[in-house]
Amino acid sequence: MRSLVLGLQFGDEGKGKITDFISHPGSVIVRYNGGTNAGHTVVTDRGTFKFHLLPAGSLRAESIVLGNGMVIDPEALITEISSIRVENKDLKILVSSAANVVTKLHKAIDRAQEEMRGDNKIGTTSHGIGPTYEEKYSRNGIRIEDLADIDKIRKKLKLISTMRRSELENTEYNNPEKIEQLAVELSKYWASIGKYVCRTEIILHEMVTDNREMVFEGGHGTMLDIDFGSYPYVTSSNTISGGVHTGSGVSLRKIQRIIGVVKSYTSRVGEGPFPTELHGKEADLLREAGGEYGTTTGRPRRVGWLDIPLVKYASTLNDIDELSLTKLDVLGTFKTIKICTDYGKNVKNAINVLTGSEKADPSYMEMDSWGTLKEDEIREMVKKGYSSLPDEMRTYIEKVESLSGKPVHIISIGKIRDSTIQKE
Ligand code: GDP
Ligand code: IMO
Ligand code: MG
Repeated sequence: MRSLVLGLQFGDEGKGKITDFISHPGSVIVRYNGGTNAGHTVVTDRGTFKFHLLPAGSLRAESIVLGNGMVIDPEALITEISSIRVENKDLKILVSSAANVVTKLHKAIDRAQEEMRGDNKIGTTSHGIGPTYEEKYSRNGIRIEDLADIDKIRKKLKLISTMRRSELENTEYNNPEKIEQLAVELSKYWASIGKYVCRTEIILHEMVTDNREMVFEGGHGTMLDIDFGSYPYVTSSNTISGGVHTGSGVSLRKIQRIIGVVKSYTSRVGEGPFPTELHGKEADLLREAGGEYGTTTGRPRRVGWLDIPLVKYASTLNDIDELSLTKLDVLGTFKTIKICTDYGKNVKNAINVLTGSEKADPSYMEMDSWGTLKEDEIREMVKKGYSSLPDEMRTYIEKVESLSGKPVHIISIGKIRDSTIQKE
């Protein structure tokens, strides 16, 4: 089976936990977009593991592939590889020679751009993601394979710093010595990374031919897609299912199962429209119950009710087969649970609301809560399966199915790896 796990909201839906759940010791896990701006968490009895560049499935997988669609900070890559070796020492790692390199200069530009945007700032992670993708599309990007050749790095950095003089003006990279220092620093990474680098699309094609068990793990969420998300408050890659093809070289026609992960409420880090956002005490309650603080930046996440118009838009866009619903234990904190069913009769398209060109007048339906769940109750439910979930929770899940028009198959009711249930 070849599956794709991606988020349908604004990121942090719990994709990492779901990728880990469907991974096996023989699996190949592939990341195809983004960089260290992603933060995917898996909690096991050995501790909490946070992944930024490596896919969350790395704990159990046989092989992982970082595809050409990614932007890779080599220093972060080396750190993450050394951490995963402790947990999965035989893990095979492949890094695309065509992936682009995030440098400190790009991080400095990211910060400078945000400052220049002033009140219109995006609220980026400052990890240099946007500027690195800009470099890629301007065809001046430093590719991972270039790290083998200091002259190439030097030449590219000189060109980049000349072209971006005004953005670098107030940064430490506005002088040639700093650029030379950076070139030397970047060239040193090859000794650690070079052995993983290859044309990953060729190996992936062989893996598909050999019918290997594969999981593609999306970074971020559908509403952060550069084309279809809530532009301009988005990331700089294609987060949707189509990103698999351009970001790994594997055709979407080879994917048999597309799983859209939906948190049973909504969260967003950074700026941009949020039609079902909660404020004040209710927001605080949800943020604390769900631990809604960024995995990557630690920023408090904005939170709100589940948004069905958004989920429907994202489900269609990604052509998903099924939903995976997460964090139902958290939602039970509320006495009454709300779901946004509609943006109001004057709204033409959900995406107009999400890009800010139309204003929503959201309608909500109210549902009974199942209350908070104790750890031993969760364990018992996992053992006994779907039918043992509280009636109110099953009613909620089935309501999400009927409102979204998609079946829910994987249900997550707790942080820990095992607190996951298959509906059918
Ligand atoms: P991702 O970016 O989509 O992989 O999600 P993150 O890891 O950034 O954020 C999801 C957070 O929720 C992590 O801290 C997970 O450990 C946690 N989580 C995932 N599923 C559940 C769940 O069902 N219940 C609870 N309580 N926490 C969960
Ligand atoms: P995962 O994979 C949540 C958001 C940032 C910011 C915007 C642009 O963990 O779901 P960037 O640094 O990418 O240029 O920032 O996108 N963002 C995320 N929010 N989860 C993520 O990833 C995100 N990746 C980017 O907060 O608003
Ligand atoms: Mg995350």
